[in-house]
Amino acid sequence: WGAPAGVLLLGYLLGSIPFGLILTRAFGAGDLRQIGSGNIGATNVLRTGRKGLAAATLILDALKGFAAVAIAERLAPGTGVLAAAAAFVGHLYPVWLRFRGGKGVATLLGVALALHWPVGLVYAAVWLGLLGALRISSVAGMTAAVSAPVAAALFDRFDHVPLLIACALLVLWKHRANIERLLDGTEPRVGSKARG
Ligand code: G3P
Repeated sequence: WGAPAGVLLLGYLLGSIPFGLILTRAFGAGDLRQIGSGNIGATNVLRTGRKGLAAATLILDALKGFAAVAIAERLAPGTGVLAAAAAFVGHLYPVWLRFRGGKGVATLLGVALALHWPVGLVYAAVWLGLLGALRISSVAGMTAAVSAPVAAALFDRFDHVPLLIACALLVLWKHRANIERLLDGTEPRVGSKARG
């Protein structure tokens, strides 16, 4: 019981680090909560006009998910899925931000890469491909999230499928305001500064 509890705590603590908020505050890029969608993720950091900070947020939010799984597997082999779940929940519901965290797209990339890298590659390809084609971050992120459990099943990693389905559902839930804007035709494209 000790190892799983420790892994859950470690995963949650890593996942709950709000890199977007920390970086934008540290580098004087304004209050992310008052900008664009108000989200703490890389897409919204990009709306501050600071591309470097947005890239760093994307990488660090992915890295914390990757690290949670990799460290857990090193400390207690077989606990990667638990750590992945904890890190993902930590990013979405961080205690430090009164449980109002991000939407999970970057953290899920890191988690998927660490659990089974081919699934992470599919996820990244779907995400980048759709982002390049449509320039709508939410559509790219939601589709990538849904592709993850499908990819895991195709790669015979059925042990990861329940977690990835749960993560995809949570990603969709966290994007409910984006989905409303998509239906209204008001979801901004990457590069525009429309509020949401
Ligand atoms: O990862 C978040 C992205 O899919 C949407 O971000 O700020 O446009 O709601 P945002």
